[in-house]
Amino acid sequence: MKKIFIYLPITFALLTASCDKEEFNSDNSIPEYPAANIENLRQSPYPIGAAVNINTLKNNQEYRNTVIKEMSSITGENAMKMNTISKGRKEYSFDDADYLVNFAQENNMRVHGHTLIWYKHTPDWVANFSGSAEDWKTIMKEYIHDVVGRYKGKVASWDVVNEVIDDKGGLRDCVWLKNIGPEYIELAFQYAHEADPDAKLFYNDYGHEYSHTRRYTVNHIADSLAQKGVPIHGIGLQMHTNVNRSENDLRYAVIAAAMSKLMVHVSEFDVAVNPDSKKDVTFTDELASRQKDRYRTVTKAMLNIPESQRFGVTMWGVHDPSSWLSSNPDWALPFNDKFERKPAYDGILQGIYQ
Ligand code: XIL
Repeated sequence: MKKIFIYLPITFALLTASCDKEEFNSDNSIPEYPAANIENLRQSPYPIGAAVNINTLKNNQEYRNTVIKEMSSITGENAMKMNTISKGRKEYSFDDADYLVNFAQENNMRVHGHTLIWYKHTPDWVANFSGSAEDWKTIMKEYIHDVVGRYKGKVASWDVVNEVIDDKGGLRDCVWLKNIGPEYIELAFQYAHEADPDAKLFYNDYGHEYSHTRRYTVNHIADSLAQKGVPIHGIGLQMHTNVNRSENDLRYAVIAAAMSKLMVHVSEFDVAVNPDSKKDVTFTDELASRQKDRYRTVTKAMLNIPESQRFGVTMWGVHDPSSWLSSNPDWALPFNDKFERKPAYDGILQGIYQ
């Protein structure tokens, strides 16, 4: 079952062998940019977006205004996860997902759906379901058809599967693998495509920027699915990273994913400044500057891949307190607690206006 992962395409093997050591030849000098002319990230040459929390969107006017002003794409941080939507077989709660989609339509934004199949956030009724492999395929198909079908033409793209590999590069244990087998991955793509043939379908995962094994396994799976004719259109790189990560590794993750010829979505970008969760850390100018460098590197790397493959960059949250990492605290996002633009924001501008 894991045999396919042993035969990695030569291209990826060669590419990954040189990672972390290789200096890229591209011009990395910091470009001048017409800052005075730039009003917001909506003017970016490729979509820039954020994961949003529906309650905060409803209740915090500054948060809402920042999203409207700056973002051309939005993702529900939790609104479209299976345990948010699925309350039983054929029983759904679409309140948050509908709110997200309506908000996006009112404000002329793209919606990226996150996520159909994930080993986490599985509703209890699914975790406790018992049946044959065919029964499991049927419940997966029902769910994907109903959700993707409801938002046909309104949700542009989906993370069809999320985090399907473990850290050794094998398929991660989950109810779908256990009950259907490895085929569950391509079936999920097939069902999503049946429900909305125009939606762009992604395999989303983490670790491209720090693990050779994770990077080449994810890229290889996506590549193999595409070669096989499975309707997959892109690779999502979560890119939950931090100020200690080398900029070459960040750049390399984007470039290596693009070798697949699929679209590339930096899908959950944040740059933690306190990755070791130390108690007495303050957000110094030096940390702000290292964070800015990493925001610039990733947004610029997207311009180093073919235009047709630039799906976009989505940040995992809007301002520092709304980050899933805020309890550290990690100051991981481009807006501070007062919704002011941080140096990280200037890093993005420098990245996209090179
Ligand atoms: C996180 C959310 O940010 C949290 O609010 C929630 O409690 C747990 O999930 N990778 C993913 C995202 O694909 O769905 C996760 O989001 C963060 C890690």
